[in-house]
Amino acid sequence: MIFCPDGAVSSAIGSAFATYGTGRIVKRFRMSPWTNELSHTIRAGDFHTDGNVSTFPPFYTTMQCEQEDPGAPEYAEQRVAYLPHVLERLASGNSEDIQTLKFLTEFDAAMAHERSSSLWRGRLVQNGEIRYHPHSLRLASKRLGEQSPTIESAIATIHRVALETSIPFHTRPGDTVMVSNRTALALPRRLSVRFTKFPTEFDSRSLFILHLKDPSK
Ligand SMILES: [Fe+2]
Repeated sequence: MIFCPDGAVSSAIGSAFATYGTGRIVKRFRMSPWTNELSHTIRAGDFHTDGNVSTFPPFYTTMQCEQEDPGAPEYAEQRVAYLPHVLERLASGNSEDIQTLKFLTEFDAAMAHERSSSLWRGRLVQNGEIRYHPHSLRLASKRLGEQSPTIESAIATIHRVALETSIPFHTRPGDTVMVSNRTALALPRRLSVRFTKFPTEFDSRSLFILHLKDPSK
């Protein structure tokens, strides 16, 4: 895929690009062993959607591999779980699964972002679309002073079911993956680094992220 700021690709897809700062449309993430920031950490992530506390989360997340993980394919596995498969599996599962389905579809939840004091509240799954991030749920529950075993149990169940209903894949430099940010959950697995001069110089995975906006907003 060719990224161009004039909208040619976005108009072909039927959606505009989200912009950051001074009109940038592509973010570059280079992973580091020295940060806990979710977008740059080498630690294993959670199944999630992006921009989950925004009024209008991105429609699609596009990820292009720039530099492959030095430990691939043992490291840097990616997975995408399709929401209808997750919901179907939960609906036909045990009592914990049914409880988690209710948590997603029938109860209001709160999510928060580290760099904002506002909270998002609502149904995590609504009209067949999802917004979800375990970190955002935990952060909101901490800010509200609530310790919720329901949240932890639901997060564990969603992780298990999303793993069961997804398949692993790897991307090589130039490969581009486009994931629906409303009907799928993406999982970044554990990454690695190869130090060339400890502690400052190292090889690690890097990727470009491009978000497409909801064309109806
Ligand atoms: Fe993400």
